[in-house]
Amino acid sequence: MKTTELGITARALVADGKGILAADETVPTVTKRLGARKIESTAESRRAYREMFFSTPGIAEFISGVILQDETIRQTSSRGAGLADLLSKQRILPGIKVDDGAKPFAGSPGETVTEGLDGLRERLIDYRAMGARFAKWRAVIAVDDTLPSAACVLANAHALARYAALCQEQGVVPIVEPEVLMDGSHTIERCEEVTGGVLHAVFNALHDQQVSLEGMLLKPNMVISGKACAKQASVKEVAAATLRCLQRHVPAAVPGIVFLSGGQDYLAATVHLSAINQLEGPKPWKLSFSYGRALQDEALKAWSGKSENLKAGQRLFYHRAMCDSAAALGRYTAAMEGKSVGA
Ligand code: 13P
Repeated sequence: MKTTELGITARALVADGKGILAADETVPTVTKRLGARKIESTAESRRAYREMFFSTPGIAEFISGVILQDETIRQTSSRGAGLADLLSKQRILPGIKVDDGAKPFAGSPGETVTEGLDGLRERLIDYRAMGARFAKWRAVIAVDDTLPSAACVLANAHALARYAALCQEQGVVPIVEPEVLMDGSHTIERCEEVTGGVLHAVFNALHDQQVSLEGMLLKPNMVISGKACAKQASVKEVAAATLRCLQRHVPAAVPGIVFLSGGQDYLAATVHLSAINQLEGPKPWKLSFSYGRALQDEALKAWSGKSENLKAGQRLFYHRAMCDSAAALGRYTAAMEGKSVGA
């Protein structure tokens, strides 16, 4: 029963032209993002910020699910409804970040392992009762000439698989997120090599822990040049390398792959997703988005913490989600940027 329900939820999250909003920044991270716009971070300002996105009129056309964080799933909107209920009422699935963050990996400076397995079963039971239908766990893999170490990749893959098995036990769809960072001067070829190795280790671990591939989603990085690499790969090169890497390492039973934006600017994240979807060749999974910064940044700038700017922020969020939805169908064009939109 649970396996069928998991498959239905996973497929709903990647329904045609729909993707996920990652609004699960921890309190310290959202405080940094608000601080950059000179907005004081309080429980109330964080609620108002999140509510701006969740109450954008018509957003369910493009957004299938929203990843929340512990504080947000417990908050109520300005109208008194739970923030998770605000989403459910629009048939947007609430999700929850359940990892405890990336912690220094013993014996390997510069590397991290994501923690949070202790007590996870109980937390999943609580979150499911609060309405969460899917979850997220992010592993972080740093790249340079010698990193990542095999030990770091294996430890993170093992934790991701243990998390995914616990989620499925509780009827919660796991989003499995192994993020190979863009930070550094590595080439796109190095990113492809590392991403391939990481995906191989992750699917090996998922198999070992008997995770049902039909009832999960993968959230990977795109294969892209390091931010500080002198030679930045073209859109065509990013699309070809990303699809090739996924074809080689992601089983066809996985219903969907939802990319993170990972520090790409919002336009690059849209253009790359559309280019990947436009490529010929086998694509047995849906290829969509689970963006955080790329969906939120422009709206945050416009809003700047002022209620009189709420509608302007919502218009920009609606527009970005519309463009990313088109990209998930391989139908984004630059001309869409000029169109006025009706949030
Ligand atoms: P970005 O799209 O900003 O990378 O965030 C996605 C995410 O959920 C990272 O864990």
